[in-house]
Amino acid sequence: LKRAYWNTRFGFYLAAIGSAVGLGNLWRFPYVVANNGGGAFVLLYILMTFLIASPLLIGELILGKSSRKSILAATFTLEKSKKYKLHWIGRLCLLLSLFIASYYAVISGWVLHFVVHFTRAFIQTNHMSLSDPMQMLLNSGWLQLALASVHLLFCAVITYKGVEDGLEKWISNMMPIFGLLLVVLVFRSLSLPKSSDALKFVFYPDFTKLSLSSLGHAIGHACFTLSVGFGVMVTFGSYLQENDHIPTAGFRVTVTDCLLSLFAGLLVFPIMLSGATGDVKDPTLLFATLPQFFLGLPNGILFGWAFFICLYLAALGATIGLMEVIVSNVQDQLRTPRSWSSWIVLSICLALAVVPSFSSSFLGNVRVRGNSIMENLDSFLINWMLPVIALGLSFLFSRGVSAADNEKHFVDPNRAESVALFGHWKVLIRYLIPIVIGISLLLQIFALF
Ligand code: PHE
Repeated sequence: LKRAYWNTRFGFYLAAIGSAVGLGNLWRFPYVVANNGGGAFVLLYILMTFLIASPLLIGELILGKSSRKSILAATFTLEKSKKYKLHWIGRLCLLLSLFIASYYAVISGWVLHFVVHFTRAFIQTNHMSLSDPMQMLLNSGWLQLALASVHLLFCAVITYKGVEDGLEKWISNMMPIFGLLLVVLVFRSLSLPKSSDALKFVFYPDFTKLSLSSLGHAIGHACFTLSVGFGVMVTFGSYLQENDHIPTAGFRVTVTDCLLSLFAGLLVFPIMLSGATGDVKDPTLLFATLPQFFLGLPNGILFGWAFFICLYLAALGATIGLMEVIVSNVQDQLRTPRSWSSWIVLSICLALAVVPSFSSSFLGNVRVRGNSIMENLDSFLINWMLPVIALGLSFLFSRGVSAADNEKHFVDPNRAESVALFGHWKVLIRYLIPIVIGISLLLQIFALF
């Protein structure tokens, strides 16, 4: 199959950042921080981002660029000359992508629901009631499933159209606007009465608030929000041009994504601590707090409307990234045309979206360890499966990919410091990442008892 290339370097950044920035930053980050006690966890998350997720992101890009294949095909090729069965890592990445795509689609559907509500309130210029939209969603599994289906359908159509027409065009106009809107909103939010408490909560590390599972949660979230461990960045790397410098690209994507998460924290916590109602440790945190904030602002409905549209586009960008990977893998493996591959993937995701859609209504009584099915699914996929895959990837990059390939794509002969940096990267991939992830998994196992 012929591989497409990014038209411009900018195209790669837009797609990689478009995949990384999404609900993970805006929706998941604040409530995971709240669950893990605040500042100390934020610090842990930043550390894990730079020590684990970012080096793995660079590894994925190198694997993609050197093999010019998607993850499954790349692992099959690599294992031919090795004694290890590496394709299991590729399989796990794909399996995770499928599950995440379907559950992510449900939350994207929530965002879509808020877009509709704000649009309606905007057009009718009367106010909207606060708890209604969220409660309506939680009560109706069918509504959640319908919204998730609409979202997945959008994504499948865009993915089907291909890399240049699809991905680049859709994502290109939205990120800068979203960034700007967030900055404006964070300023407003920081002028609320309890903003100093919120700043303290996000930035003052109180290590006694951490639990045994916090390290694992930080690793899982850092990888999730950078889209590492799904093979997404392998696919994007395979579209890179020969002269693109991978570590620089990886670093830029990491910093942008990390900053956006911190902004999200600075947006949500002042609102929460200034008296908004809602459960701070619940996945509905973002959707419960923000509308209350918007309705208190002058022109709030307009801001709310713009915010949810941008958030929806971010969710779209992230889901398209995921679909792109699954579709390109199906295409590489089954040799089916792109259209077929897109429809197959769409159907599987739809089927998988049924359970999370009904987790707050029909399946609301099914609780494991006090949490809903949705929360358990999230925890299983991101806190357990993702770190295990990250462990596998560190093995793949240090034992599977040849040292010469790693060096060729990492080291830039024109930059003296890149040789030293390469040395650090190798140490992280080979020793530090497996050790830290191993410890985090053990701690999470202890925490179960
Ligand atoms: N990184 C995305 C986010 O933070 C989620 C995602 C994961 C997207 C994996 C693609 C692949 O929202």
